Amino acid sequence: MPKKIKKIGVMTSGGDSPGMNAAIRSVVRACTYYRIDCIGIYRGYQGLIEGDFIPLGPRDVSGLINKGGTMLKSARSKEFRTKAGRKKAHEQLVKAEIDAMIVIGGDGSFTGAMVFNKEYKYPVIGIPGTIDNDIFGTQFTLGYDTALNTVVDAIDKIRDTASSHNRLFFVEVMGRDAGFIALNAGIGAGAEEILIPEEDLGLDRMLQSLQRSKRSGKSSSIVVVAEGDKTGKNVFELAEYVEQNMPEYEVRVSVLGHMQRGGSPSCFDRVLASRMGVKAIELILDNKSNLMVGINDNLITVTEMEKAVKGSLDVNKELIRVSDIMSI
Ligand code: F6P
Repeated sequence: MPKKIKKIGVMTSGGDSPGMNAAIRSVVRACTYYRIDCIGIYRGYQGLIEGDFIPLGPRDVSGLINKGGTMLKSARSKEFRTKAGRKKAHEQLVKAEIDAMIVIGGDGSFTGAMVFNKEYKYPVIGIPGTIDNDIFGTQFTLGYDTALNTVVDAIDKIRDTASSHNRLFFVEVMGRDAGFIALNAGIGAGAEEILIPEEDLGLDRMLQSLQRSKRSGKSSSIVVVAEGDKTGKNVFELAEYVEQNMPEYEVRVSVLGHMQRGGSPSCFDRVLASRMGVKAIELILDNKSNLMVGINDNLITVTEMEKAVKGSLDVNKELIRVSDIMSI
């Protein structure tokens, strides 16, 4: 006979992303709707180990849907990677009589949840929250849409000054292992070139393309570079390389950095967070575990956490082709 769920815990873990607060709000209110208690766990797995908990009711999450960051704070816990750390975490959950846990985070956070589930048979459900959009089993992660809009807005502004001074700008965007932000925001902002971690598009090809643009009358250009791009050169090295080979261009670098993770979530992320939070609670009430909620073709879907973590994501070749054609 499956255990009756009376109390659940919710945490945010890993890099924060806009929409995490909206997901916490959704989880808390769905708990009230289904008449179960909800406990907020501060600072991800580290707060779990330390028993840093707070009971949350529907009025505690008022005015939260539009806030960036996460009211529960986030962390990456080294201690939770150890058996001893996970034992402490389990003891805290037992002591507080929390029956199941919702983890809002990225693949690292889900890996932790899976290990914990295996060791203690403890029910866990994941909600994908990361601006990188690099999780298998969902077309969108929480915060990705907001980050895209933030990046496009920033590049639009950079373009104003780039064109005023006839300069070539290298703009570094987040994405240590994934080029989703670079590729989509790059196309959205009309970038001339986009460099991503998944594919080496070649330095020579980039130079040729920039030279062609220059010949065709372009006086300024924007190259969007994902943090972990495959050329192996960082954005400053890339700028230097182009400056040496195209002395006719004045080159500047702009690293957008952590501003990409902040800000009020877009409507898309708020709705997504609300839908995912409700589904996560319904899965827990159904005594399901080790699953991640996702969205595919506008339907809320469920994927095994293991697949979400291990599944490989293909780069969208059509986007690369479109970007090439647009930069003519
Ligand atoms: O949130 C994901 C991400 O933004 C990556 O793209 C980036 O490399 C990383 O987080 C940086 O995070 P932090 O500064 O928190 O280590």
